[in-house]
Amino acid sequence: MNNPLFDPLILGQLRLSNRIVMSPMTRDRAGPGDVPTDLMVTYYRQRASAGLIVTEGVQPSAVGKGYWRTPGIWSAEQIDGWAKVAEAVHAEGGQIVMQIMHCGRVVVPANRGYEADIIAPSALPCPDKVPGPDGIPVATGTPRALSADELPALAEEFATAARNAVAAGIDGVELHASSGYLINQFLNPASNRREDAFGGSGANRARFPLMVLKAMADAIGGDRVGLRFSPGNPYNGMDPSDPADTFVPLLQGANALGLAYLHILDMQLKDLDSLAMARTHCSAPIIANNMLTAETGRALIEAGRADAISFGRAFIANPDLVSRLKTGAPLAKPDYSLLYTGEEKGYVDYPALG
Ligand SMILES: Cc1cc2nc3c(=O)[nH]c(=O)nc-3n(C[C@H](O)[C@H](O)[C@H](O)COP(=O)(O)O)c2cc1C
Repeated sequence: MNNPLFDPLILGQLRLSNRIVMSPMTRDRAGPGDVPTDLMVTYYRQRASAGLIVTEGVQPSAVGKGYWRTPGIWSAEQIDGWAKVAEAVHAEGGQIVMQIMHCGRVVVPANRGYEADIIAPSALPCPDKVPGPDGIPVATGTPRALSADELPALAEEFATAARNAVAAGIDGVELHASSGYLINQFLNPASNRREDAFGGSGANRARFPLMVLKAMADAIGGDRVGLRFSPGNPYNGMDPSDPADTFVPLLQGANALGLAYLHILDMQLKDLDSLAMARTHCSAPIIANNMLTAETGRALIEAGRADAISFGRAFIANPDLVSRLKTGAPLAKPDYSLLYTGEEKGYVDYPALG
């Protein structure tokens, strides 16, 4: 029987040659000025047979940076660097969207290489430690609470990032609203203790995330914008206990924007079916993620629960993952000690078969 994993798919303006997506992965290989390097061009080119590549998290501004050697999309040099990445992926027939990731309070100041604000919905530090430049986890900096007056300009920074990505030839953008970063910090009651219109009820906590999504959709078209989220994900100090009251208004608001896709890091919760919730409240196509295999991913698509699936870790050591899944070839295992070294080794030296 035909395997739908290898069928083409249209997601808004995106044209996927198969339904196997590369999930976003931070790899700490940007150069001075947070500019994408030639190593990154090679890395993404090697993986261009994915139906769609989602880049690592990319900061929309200096303030959005929290980790070591992560790339940006606000300077002319960064845009030029990304243009080389987009060109390389397109030359191989692939499609690529950029994940826009603002760390909010999840910042180790020494990772930045410059002085900049640390911002969050409330002045509460991230309770989890985060790797510093040497890879050893340390306490994050204390954020200042954003005032409501600042929020429209902050949303506009995401819109500018989206425009810059498209100017670089990138096919679209994905808003990172999971894993405890700025957008998730607004959604989650553990990090959002605001008493204004942006805090309190689930609908209020979804207000700034929706302002950002709308600004991005207005900038480049909703059909070039994806939304990544993960109900029940406790990462970086999020309270996982009460997802639906926030995610339903988020999905309902997103539904009005005609998004290209929803990218769901599915925690497979006991009391909430995140994929079904997304289908109920938003008509955008779904990319499902988290610990999938070719078999479980195929089953999700055949059951109509997802339109495409994404793999993170499997793409690290298998640049030709799509062809390996097609032929049933064995998958190589990554060396996790080399994930964030900034070096060539463990990044672009995993060979394709044949
Ligand atoms: C090295 C590494 C870096 C990651 N960086 C990001 C990131 O920048 N943005 C994001 O949304 N998820 C990130 N993730 C999560 C992955 O995209 C994915 O959701 C996770 O690995 C689960 O999928 P898998 O089971 O197929 O690996 C990262 C995961 C890994 C292993």
